[in-house]
Amino acid sequence: MTINRILRAGLLAGSAMTALAMAAPTYAQMDLQPEGATGTAPARASVVAQDFMVAAANPVAVQAGYDVLAAGGTAVDAMVAVQMMLNLVEPQSSGIGGGAFLVYYDAAADALLTLDGRETAPLAAGGDLFLDEDGARLGFWDAVVGGRSVGTPGTLALMAQAHERYGTLDWADLLQPTIDLAERGFTVSPRLAGMLTGSRAERLRTYQPARDYFFPGGEPLAVGDVRTNQPFARTLRLIAEQGPAVFYDGPVADAIVATVQGAQGNPGLLSREDLAAYRVIERAPVCAAYRGYDVCGMGPPSSGALTVGQMLGILGHFDLPSMGPDSVDSWHLIAEAAKLAFADRGLYMADSDFVRMPAGLLDPAYLTVRAQHVSLDAALETPVAPGNPPWDEAALWSTHEGLELPGTSHVSIIDGDGNAVSLTTTIESGFGSNLMVGGFLLNNELTDFSFAAERDGRPVANRVEAGKRPRSSMAPTIVLDEEGAVALVIGSPGGSRIIPYVARSIVAILDWEMDVQAALDLPHIVNRNGGTDVEAGTSAEAFAAALEARGHSVNLRDLTSGLHAIRVTADGLIGGADPRREGIALGR
Ligand code: DON
Repeated sequence: MTINRILRAGLLAGSAMTALAMAAPTYAQMDLQPEGATGTAPARASVVAQDFMVAAANPVAVQAGYDVLAAGGTAVDAMVAVQMMLNLVEPQSSGIGGGAFLVYYDAAADALLTLDGRETAPLAAGGDLFLDEDGARLGFWDAVVGGRSVGTPGTLALMAQAHERYGTLDWADLLQPTIDLAERGFTVSPRLAGMLTGSRAERLRTYQPARDYFFPGGEPLAVGDVRTNQPFARTLRLIAEQGPAVFYDGPVADAIVATVQGAQGNPGLLSREDLAAYRVIERAPVCAAYRGYDVCGMGPPSSGALTVGQMLGILGHFDLPSMGPDSVDSWHLIAEAAKLAFADRGLYMADSDFVRMPAGLLDPAYLTVRAQHVSLDAALETPVAPGNPPWDEAALWSTHEGLELPGTSHVSIIDGDGNAVSLTTTIESGFGSNLMVGGFLLNNELTDFSFAAERDGRPVANRVEAGKRPRSSMAPTIVLDEEGAVALVIGSPGGSRIIPYVARSIVAILDWEMDVQAALDLPHIVNRNGGTDVEAGTSAEAFAAALEARGHSVNLRDLTSGLHAIRVTADGLIGGADPRREGIALGR
């Protein structure tokens, strides 16, 4: 039995596992799934614990969070430690060069809030950011690689603000394990090594710091290599000693701006003023009622909670609990609800500080009307048209269907006092803009904006505007039960597929009463108002013919979610990690 399985199985025994759980596993000891190897994952048990739990995308990062919780830190303290460690060991997905959304349950105040640490467009940017001299849209990767796509990073500001409000341990101590490991060297994981091949690797060789870091001596890092990151250790040491000001208004800011503006062939507009002006925004959570629960998450600039909420609001009109996961009816309905929700997302959703959005996107009467479009017998033709949700002041927008690609991570944490963290954190594509400075990668989040500012003579709601935050699909979620207590913490990476990944996992856990790990393992069938994607190589393929017969246009493909979830039950905390990535859940 590998350490990986020992940890999972052993933690079922609860606190008796603490000693073993304290020993951080190494990759050499674990049988991790290579990318895309879905459907063949060994069956794994949920992790059960009584006091606290952390679930995230990398065992070393999870261990860092566990250690903080075991030392009496809060969920937010643990979040800081996990995020810093993820930046080191899963650099392709998230870090201080990117942005994040936090949904937080403050147990003492019995309050739920969200912090928006999304990147902003530079103040010098406008609707032509992704157009060439002739006014034609740039190719996606031409826009991504280099400085043009880099938005003002928000993750560090979010960490600092959350820590100031909800942390109890010393800020510098939370960064120290990552500083130490960056100096000593971490073990390269299968997923990181696997991403250093093919076309992605070619792009990553464009600029020198990333080329030298990921391809030392010209060869890609391999599984099991030990990689130091001295520049990152130095950056974190500065941030530990002097706080986030060194990043937003000090030497790190200088280095970021020089890197972005000096990116040969594709310089960007990010300036010292953008960094100095960056602010985390506290926003009210967006909650949708679902079968007695409140499903709460991140509102605009994320489309996550609204679109998950619309899907569930439509699905609430159907008896999914009695249909269960083995009925094609369930998957047909989930796909149909997604089509309708994605239609509204494309037209209406963007940064609401810049565009007027309908207030009634989650209005139960409106979703009842939308649900009436759904038939059990025949699939809606796509693209489904957006609806007419109630709103005070109408604005005519045009649609935007964005391309969103790997490079995101989800962290779920519950501490001993019942505080809960649901954090989805991103640098957008795998390796972000491919620009590296101070040992970390800079995001390409601005390509989440529509490249075209208008369509058919109407402005696109998600067009680039100075200081605006690009629309996101990230859906960090906390589900509250009828008493208002935390019932589930969940989220995933996966671009716009995050939305159906999260919605169907909520259905599996709440409606089908599935064990948390089993719910995350469940094969995916997703629709984003187009074809119906069925996870290749899994038992879901058995539904393909029946879905086709109802009119779905089925595509078999890899669907690499990265769901991390913790459920609160009378028997304790029950956690799971997506078998499609490298994460684990760990608790005591
Ligand atoms: O904010 C968003 O919606 C995207 N930038 C997230 C990208 C993503 O999830 C890639 N995942 N693997």
